[in-house]
Order: sequence, then C-alpha cells, then structure tokens
Amino acid sequence: MALGSESIHGMWSSRLMFILAAAGSAVGLGNIWRFPYVAGENGGGAFVLVYIGCIFLIGVPIMASEILMGRAGRQSPINTMRDLVAHSNANPLWQVIGWMGALAGFMILSFYSVIAGWAISYMLQMAAGDFTGGDAVQAQEAFGALTGDPVTVVGLHTVFMLLTMGIAARGVGAGLETTVRILMPALFFLLIVLVVYAGVTSGKFIEGLQFLFSFNVDKLTWNGVLIAMGQAFFTLSLGMGAIMAYGAYMPKDVSVLGTATMIALLDTAVALMSGMVIFPLVFANGLESSAGPGLMFVTLPLAFGHMTGGAFFGAIFFLLVTFAAITSSISLVEPAIAWLIERLKASRVKAALLVGGLAWLFGLGSAFSFNIWSDLHFVGDKTFFDVMDFTSNNILLPLGGVFIALFAGWAIDQEITRDQLAVSPRVYATWRFVTRFIAPAAVFVVFVLAFF
Ligand code: TRP
Repeated sequence: MALGSESIHGMWSSRLMFILAAAGSAVGLGNIWRFPYVAGENGGGAFVLVYIGCIFLIGVPIMASEILMGRAGRQSPINTMRDLVAHSNANPLWQVIGWMGALAGFMILSFYSVIAGWAISYMLQMAAGDFTGGDAVQAQEAFGALTGDPVTVVGLHTVFMLLTMGIAARGVGAGLETTVRILMPALFFLLIVLVVYAGVTSGKFIEGLQFLFSFNVDKLTWNGVLIAMGQAFFTLSLGMGAIMAYGAYMPKDVSVLGTATMIALLDTAVALMSGMVIFPLVFANGLESSAGPGLMFVTLPLAFGHMTGGAFFGAIFFLLVTFAAITSSISLVEPAIAWLIERLKASRVKAALLVGGLAWLFGLGSAFSFNIWSDLHFVGDKTFFDVMDFTSNNILLPLGGVFIALFAGWAIDQEITRDQLAVSPRVYATWRFVTRFIAPAAVFVVFVLAFF
C-alpha cells in the first residue's frame, strides 16, 4: 500500500507554517488560563517541575510519534490509523486510537468553547472600562455574574463555535495559516509586555517566581502529579489526534523531532510567562493563588483596572486569549472534519457545520454547569464541566497518548518510523526506547498511584 503520498485536505505551505499551526494548537487556554490555576491549586513549585518533566520526557517523544504517524498516513487520524494498522499487519484494535481521539475532542471542545466565550465577554467589558478602578470584591462579583447567566454564556459559546467553524470551513491554507501567521507573534509580543508590566508594577515579581519555581514537595500529592501529567498532554494537544491531523499536512523534508521540541519549548515558555503575569498580580492584590478556574478572570481584570491604559491593554489581552483559543479549537475539530470529508465525501463547509453543531450541543452541558446545572453532580461532586475536564484531560488524553506511544514503539512497521524521523541511529534508538518503555511506564505508574 502506498503511504505518505498527498493529503486531499491541503498542505502547510512551509516548515514555519507547520510550527506556527502546531504551536497555535498547543498554545491556548491551557497555557494562559488552565496552567496558572492548576499550578496554583497544587502549590506551585514542585508541581511545575513535574509538569515540565512530563512535557519533555513524555510529551515530546509522543508528539513526535503523532506527527510522524500523521505524515505517514496523510489522512484524518481515524483513516491514518486504519492504513497504518493494515500496512504494519497490526492488531485492528489499535484503531481505537482514532475513535477515542474523536470522542476526547468533542469533550474538550465542549468546555473549551465555553471558557473562550468568557474571554470574549471580558474583552468587551474591558474595552467598555467596566473594571477601571474596581476592587477585588467587584472583580469576583463580575465573574460570578457572567458565569451565572445562562443566556449570555450560551450566546458567547455560540459565537465562539461559529468563529471556529468559519475558519475551519475555509480550510488549511486560507483559514488556519492566515490566522496563525498573524496571531501567534502578536500573542508572544503581548505576553512579554505583560510580564514586564507585572514585574514593574506589582512589586511581587520575586514572590511570583518563588511560587512557580521553589521546590515545595510537601504540597504535591499523587493526584497533583496526575494533574500535572494530564496538563502536559492537554497543553501540547497530545493524545487525541489533533497533532496527527496537523502532521498529515506537514511537508516531507521537515525534521519531526526538531519541530516537536520547538513546539514544546514555545508552549512551555507561554505557560510560564502566563504564570509570571498572573501570580505577581495575585500576590500584590492579596488574592488566593488557589482560586481555581476564575484565576485569570478575576485577577487580571483587577490588575488592568489599575493600570494606565488598562482598559485598552486588557481588551487586547482578552482578544488574544480568544484568538489563542481559536487556533486551538480548530485543531480540536480538524480530525473529525477531515474524517467526514473522507468518509462521506462531504464538503468542508458541511463537515464543519456538522462537527460544530454536535460540539455546540455538548457544550451546553458545560455552559449550564456554572448556573442552572451548578447543583447537578454527575460523578461524586463533579458538575458536567468538571466531568468533561477531568475525563478528557486526566484519563482519555494520557490513555490515548500511551496507546500512540505503544503503537509507534511496538506495532508500527519500523521502516515508517525510521524513514519519517530520519535521524542518526543513536537518536533513533533513544526515541524508540523512550516511546516503547519510558513514556508508557511513566503514565502507567502515575495512573496507578493516583487512582489507588
Ligand atoms: N493545547 C490547547 C491548549 O493548551 C488545547 C488543545 C487544542 C488540545 N487541541 C487539543 C488539547 C487536542 C488536547 C488535544 O489550550
């Protein structure tokens, strides 16, 4: 069977475009919103170290596996897996990787779109000067008022989903490339401005750094380690086929391991910088580092409210959060859209509408988790939102990641991995060892320790 010919969905026009697109997928709410608050809830320091360890020890080799599998198959993850399995004479059960990924994608998008909707609202509120001169209580109340209003939250969720679909429907070149080309550099630039701002004005920059980097191992639980690992998968967009789908559009002459490392570095830099913006401001304003999902939505508006030009910069910040979320959400729907196009010969517009509509429906559950369904507990004391977040990040993504590593390490025709990675025998042997043994074992150990 001829693998690795051409993708019918289009191709990235250059190596840089692949990096920007994959970094666009990786850098998102996971970095700016989720990382600071899970680090805060788990005591900072040791958690951050475990997180970084997971990124480079487990994340990069698995990301390389996803990219190379995608580039070898050149189709949606579901069909790429089908062909790789057939080509390698592997057990058909491996195809579950593609299907599980599609499910995880819907689950993630369901809450991702809701949070991104909040960012849209904050952009508008900021621009209107709603937070100017406000205090901590007011910031907390504004957040509660927004999330507690089902109509507004669903409306914003709808707007975000439409934006995602609009770009996804335009395809790889006109849609995604155009978006990431402008927004990724802009996001980086603004984050640097904000880190400097937080450092200069808060007077608590050192406390922020200490919180992020001091090794306070006593605050870390095994559950915290699981969350750090789940966050590593989430922030790198691993374990569900998003990067595999992007890899399918990657030019053949580009280094897989090199770009995977670059994407991980960019992603980690953005997460740490977000922490360096948020924690100094948290400490300067006497707020709780363990505030949970509201951290970015309560502390940043408060800080901007006291900053010269804060309304303007705050609006720009949340605009960029919104776009960072969009370049990620497009990668969440791409596997399903590509599959529909291949399977039903559907047009991209129809496929985007179908996937977006389904994800929108799922998203209602997350939108209502903060208001009319806030007392509805699905598992233990978890709301619909919590269940989606926990199941996808802490179970489906690591599990999907392990399956991908095991498949790439053990089951796939070795010719494919050798040819796709195109590295020296030493580097290849290292990648293969980590992918076969280290990454799966690490995930397994963390699972066992966290759940039992
Ligand atoms: N990585 C993105 C973030 O940090 C979220 C994301 C996009 C994602 N695509 C994904 C997570 C695929 C898991 C799988 O915000």
